[in-house]
Amino acid sequence: MSSNEHEIQKPPLRLGVLISGSGTNLQALIDAVENQQLPGVEIALVASNNPNAYGLQRALKHKLPAIYLPWGNVGAQFIAPVGKGNVGTQFIAPKNGMSESEFLLTALLQLFQIDLIVLAGWMRIFSAAFLEHFPQRVINIHPALLPDAGTGSTYTTSSGIQIPVFRGLHAVKQALDAGVTVTGSCVHYVTPEVDAGPVICRQEVTIEHGDTEESLHERLKVVEHRLIVEAVRKLR
Ligand code: GRF
Repeated sequence: MSSNEHEIQKPPLRLGVLISGSGTNLQALIDAVENQQLPGVEIALVASNNPNAYGLQRALKHKLPAIYLPWGNVGAQFIAPVGKGNVGTQFIAPKNGMSESEFLLTALLQLFQIDLIVLAGWMRIFSAAFLEHFPQRVINIHPALLPDAGTGSTYTTSSGIQIPVFRGLHAVKQALDAGVTVTGSCVHYVTPEVDAGPVICRQEVTIEHGDTEESLHERLKVVEHRLIVEAVRKLR
């Protein structure tokens, strides 16, 4: 009898991937799952607050459940599965400190039995009340360097240089504008303070002479595609 037969099989880790845009990080996860680089991991749901997010098309192409979830207190009363038309409306009242949209998303994540929520270019901020429902179960990709604990205003690079921490929108541009020579990307746990949760994995990237926001972000994304797979593998 092999030792494997004695091992208790863990149930698959079911990912809920939330996107707002092109979804190249989602694609990296899809590819990793399909190429057996993430054994025991399934992408159980893809949801977007943006109906035109190309990531939804990526999900559908791979036969993954893809849902457009209108976001905001106005107009958040219905969901529309992509490609199948609107299957009806349902009014959800704000509850327990969460917005209507968060309440609806919570119900969806529970319905799809999601174990780990991956924010892959998700452009909305979650309330503390929403995050309390999913302790240590929401992770985000941030295109700048955060210190290990996520908090604090400086990051010390591997070569010992102290640089400011760039959080929030346009973190790639913030790094370029600050004139730093090194930036990078992180996957971190999501906490109520934006881009300030403990780091799961991180990689530094050198800023090249003549880099634009686009050229630098493109190189960062290449790194992110590896980091997000590594982070999910660690949390499996
Ligand atoms: C990534 O660069 C990520 O760091 C940021 O949003 C971008 C999403 O890109 N949070 P994509 O939609 O995965 O291509």
